[in-house]
Order: sequence, then structure tokens, then C-alpha cells
Amino acid sequence: MSLRAATPHDLDAIMQLERASFPTDAWSDAMMREELASPHGRYLVLEEAGRLIGYGGIRAVRGGTDADIQTIALAESARGRGRGRGLLRSLLAAAGERRVREVFLEVRADNPVAQALYVSEGFVELARRPNYYQPDGVDAIVMRLDLRGWLAANTGLDAADPAADRTSEIRPGSEASTPDAPTLAGSPTLERTPGAASEAGACS
Ligand SMILES: CC(C)(COP(=O)(O)OP(=O)(O)OC[C@H]1O[C@@H](n2cnc3c(N)ncnc32)[C@H](O)[C@@H]1OP(=O)(O)O)[C@@H](O)C(=O)NCCC(=O)NCCS
Repeated sequence: MSLRAATPHDLDAIMQLERASFPTDAWSDAMMREELASPHGRYLVLEEAGRLIGYGGIRAVRGGTDADIQTIALAESARGRGRGRGLLRSLLAAAGERRVREVFLEVRADNPVAQALYVSEGFVELARRPNYYQPDGVDAIVMRLDLRGWLAANTGLDAADPAADRTSEIRPGSEASTPDAPTLAGSPTLERTPGAASEAGACS
């Protein structure tokens, strides 16, 4: 299994997983393409035996202090074996590289598996948005993570500390930073225009 930065060539494989994972509210190809191309985004993909089995992304506006988990999904056959947690941790480490302090996400109220994962990493519920996910009419739970605390607990580094700008030490997948995260091979910064996807109801 390997972890690497997503490229535009991954779009079709990502969209296959996207549609299978979010049958009623999948993003469109155009939205995902825009996300993959965003300068504010960072998307990672997990591969096994040459097959894309997972993807996830954050949005962290350059110069800002917060980030959003935009989406995360594993192929059904790959779930329940710690890979989702590893991918999430790699995304959080990537946010740490951008000096982010807080990470936000929205999760469906009817998705206890994802909620349990987020809570176990330290996310706390901030608010609920009634009927946020359409057409299902399902509430969104808005969650927040103190990333500095998470980094301190998981890497021993504080993202708010200027001396902590040592990205090689908090690289996603490094043993020191994210013990359970897969290794990230190369992480080119991805290009994007801020926009639609993040407003469309991110992580569902
Ligand atoms: C949510 C998702 C990414 C989690 O990835 P995963 O590989 O299945 O999860 P992991 O094996 O890493 O488990 C992480 C935690 O999730 C929770 N979890 C995983 N499977 C679970 C299950 N069947 N029942 C209840 N909780 C479960 C547990 O808290 C688990 O931690 P633990 O193993 O210490 O108990 C994955 O299930 C998925 O792709 N789901 C469909 C898409 C989706 O809902 N994405 C989230 C959108 S916000």
C-alpha cells in the first residue's frame, strides 16, 4: 500500500470511489477536478496493487490558520482496517505543514463510523446544520479539531511555534509524526480556485 499526492490523472478513479461512497450526494466531476487543481487544496490517494483504494483532501487557504477536511473515502473492501485513520492522520499532518491551527469538517448525522473516527482523533462537535445534506434531509454535524494539540500529541511539534516550521519532521506518513499513516511519496502542491466544492457540503 502506498500514499501519494493526487494528480488530475486520478480524477476518474477518485470519482468511481466518490460515487460508490456517497451515492446520493457525490460531487460532480467538475467539482472534484477543481478541488484537485486548487492551490489551497491538498489531496492524497491510497493505492494497493496499482489500484486506487482511497482518497481524501483538505482545503487550507494559504496564509490562513484553519483548514477543512473536504472529503475522505475508502473503497468498501478496504474499510475497517485502520486505513481511514491513517489517511486522516496524513491529511492532518499535511494541514500542519501549512501552519494551520484548527481543522473543521462536516459529517452526516447518520454516519456513525466517520463520527467515531473523528472523535477518536480529537474532533469535537461545534454545531448542527439541520437538513444540510440534500436530497436526504440529513443534518450535518460540524466538528473542530485543535490541530496544535493534535500535532503536539502526535508529533511533539506545535504548528504555531515558528521553530516548528520543519516540514520534513511532520511530513505525512513519517514514523515520528503519524505512526499509523502510510508513507507519502512526493507531495506536489496542488492548484485550485477557491470555490464551489467546499460550499457544496464537504465531507458527507
Ligand atoms: C469513514 C471511513 C473513511 C473510515 O475509514 P476506515 O478505514 O473504514 O476506518 P478505520 O478502520 O481506520 O477505523 C477508524 C475508526 O472508525 C470507526 N469505525 C471503523 N469501522 C467501524 C464500524 N464498522 N463500526 C463502527 N465504527 C467503525 C472506529 O472508531 C475506528 O476506530 P477503531 O478501529 O480504533 O475502533 C470509511 O469507512 C469510508 O470510506 N466510509 C464511506 C465514506 C465516508 O463516510 N466518508 C466520511 C465522510 S465525512
